[in-house]
Amino acid sequence: MFREDLLLGKVAIITGGGTGLGKSMARRFAVLGADVAIVSRNKEHLESTMNELKDEGYSISYRQCDIRDPGQIEEAVDSIIDEFGKVDILVNNAAGNFVSKTEMLSPKAFDTILKITLNGTVYFTLEMGKRWINSGSKGTILNMIATYAWTGSAYVVPSATAKAGVLALTRSLAVEWGPKGIRTVAIAPGPFPTGGSTKRLLPSEDMLDLLVSRNPSKRLGTHAELANLAAFLVSDEASFINGEVITIDGGEWLSGAGQFNMLSSLTEDAWEEMRRRR
Ligand code: HXC
Repeated sequence: MFREDLLLGKVAIITGGGTGLGKSMARRFAVLGADVAIVSRNKEHLESTMNELKDEGYSISYRQCDIRDPGQIEEAVDSIIDEFGKVDILVNNAAGNFVSKTEMLSPKAFDTILKITLNGTVYFTLEMGKRWINSGSKGTILNMIATYAWTGSAYVVPSATAKAGVLALTRSLAVEWGPKGIRTVAIAPGPFPTGGSTKRLLPSEDMLDLLVSRNPSKRLGTHAELANLAAFLVSDEASFINGEVITIDGGEWLSGAGQFNMLSSLTEDAWEEMRRRR
């Protein structure tokens, strides 16, 4: 759906780019001409994704880095700039999450998720923002959040509170850093199956069927759909979009919100009976 050179000349960092949606965005950005640096803790994932994309002929590199440590982020960015000369795009995609009754969580469990999902995003954003501002360069930040950043969600409270923080960060920096040429946007993905988090977050396979049946679009999202949205949002074609969150969930969160949405389950006979009574 895009010009093949949409991201030509751009350098993009994608945290958590070794697996899942991060990997799909890495491939899409590379196909559209970007130089891509993927960053995560897991060297095995990073290496295998890099080799896969290199074999397909794309420009990709990796840095092993724990985003909870600002020192490691600084080192990674230094060395990415040494290799590619600059950074134009930061995708804050890395996150941690687990499903648990909230009363079962220890303070350390809460810290573990907040440190990755909120602090890690803030640290990487600060590192890039300061560099862009000091050098007078333009930059784009894309934050991956979740619809429960504004609805909240039972059983994933550390993640929901962290994502709510990332949403506030997105909207705050859009205004504060917008005049400096830094654009901050976010995507709230709905159900997109990924090997790792789907397995860990859903108690059983049946849950996938439930996600489909309750979705107004009656299906799950595909990685290509998510990666295309991300590519558009980080491209210059979206340069007037700032501080916005784009939800891509087939209508999932809204279907749980509208007071009369439950009427979707009425049969034709029941509708006819309602009409007759009127
Ligand atoms: C309750 C748990 C727990 C669980 C860990 N803890 N798992 N508590 N339920 N399932 C607690 C531990 O008991 C411990 O506290 C503390 O958390 C730290 O545990 P560690 O095992 O040492 O944590 P660590 O290995 O550092 O990391 C945990 C993790 C990990 C971040 C969740 O599993 C991980 O790296 N996951 C991969 C990343 C990920 O989850 N990505 C998917 C994100 S999806 P105590 O006090 O006992 O010592 C996402 C968006 C979802 O974010 C949107 C959906 C639409």
